[in-house]
Amino acid sequence: MEKRLPPVIIDTDPGIDDAASIFWVLASEKFDVKALTIANGNIGLDGCVTNALRILEVAGRTDVPVYRGAYRPILKGPMDASWVHGKDGLGDAGLPMPTAKETPGYGPAEMARIVRESPEPVTILALAPLTNVALAILLDPEMKKNVKEILFMGGAVNVIGNDTPVASFNAAVDPEATYIVYNSGIPVVQLGLDICDQFTETDADFERLRDEGGPIGGYLYTMTEDWRKRSSMREPSRWYKSRQDGIGLNDVATTAYLINPDWFTCEDVACDIQLGGIGAGQTVVDFRGWWKKEPNVRFAYEVDSAAAVRQWMDDIIRYDHRQ
Ligand code: BDR
Ligand code: CA
Repeated sequence: MEKRLPPVIIDTDPGIDDAASIFWVLASEKFDVKALTIANGNIGLDGCVTNALRILEVAGRTDVPVYRGAYRPILKGPMDASWVHGKDGLGDAGLPMPTAKETPGYGPAEMARIVRESPEPVTILALAPLTNVALAILLDPEMKKNVKEILFMGGAVNVIGNDTPVASFNAAVDPEATYIVYNSGIPVVQLGLDICDQFTETDADFERLRDEGGPIGGYLYTMTEDWRKRSSMREPSRWYKSRQDGIGLNDVATTAYLINPDWFTCEDVACDIQLGGIGAGQTVVDFRGWWKKEPNVRFAYEVDSAAAVRQWMDDIIRYDHRQ
C-alpha cells in the first residue's frame, strides 16, 4: 500500500524566500501539500497570488490549489516589502506569468475546511504575517483539534528585529493576528530571527544551484541576484547579523524545521505578544517564570544551518533533474 504523506498547508506571501521555501517543500517530496493560502505581506495580495501560481508552474505542481486570503492585516493597513523582493516580489527575474488560475474560495475558510476534513493532523507552515491563520482560528472553534503544529517564521527573542528594533517583519505587520495564534492553544513552533540569523546562503551556494540545477536552481540564482548585490547587510555590524558573503532566506530557515526538526534545539516557553506602541509585534518570553503560565510556544534557538542549507540545495538539484 502506498504510504500517505503528512498533510501541510503553506500560508505565504511570495516573496523570494517564500519561493525558495515552497520549492524546497515540493522538491523534498516528503509532504502532501494541500494548498497555498495567500497573505498580504511582501507585496500586495494580487501580486502574491500571481507569484504563488508562477512558483507552482515552474515546479510543475499546478495541481496544488492557491486560495486568496486577507488583503490586509487585522488592524493595520496593507504592507509592502518590495524594496527587498523587487517590484514583482520575485526579484524581477522574469519568472513566466502563470497560465493556471487561483482556486475559488477564501483562504482562511479553506484552511479551516482542509484541517476539519483531514484524516490526520495538518501542519501549517506559516511564512507570512499570521492574518489568515488567525482568521481561520476565529472561524472554526474545531481548528485546534486537528492542527499538528503551526511553524511560524516570526519572532525575535535574543536578537534584534528586522522590521522594528524589537520585532520581526511577519509579527510586526499583524501583531493582533500573532496574539490570536499564540494564545489559541494550538502548538506553535517559533522559528524566528533567533534561528534565521544563523543561516547564510552564500553567493557560492547560488552558483552551485545555477550550475548543477535546472530551471528552479536557475531562477533561485537570478531571483536573488539583485538582493545579493545591493544588500545593506553586507557591512559588518556588532549589533545585527550581517552577511558578507551572501544573504539570509528567512523562510528557508523556518521550512528547515518541517524538513527535519532534528537540526534544531528548542525550549518550551511562555511567550506573549506586545500589541501596541514602539514594541508592537515583539515576542516576549518569560524565561524566569514570573507569569506562572504554562508554556504555549516551542522556541527554536539553535540550528545546524550548514546541514539544512546543504539539504535545501541537494533536494532542489535532485528535483530539477527528475524525469
Ligand atoms: C519575513 O518577512 C518577509 O519579508 C519574508 O518573506 C519572510 O517571511 C522575513 O522577516
Ligand atoms: Ca514570507
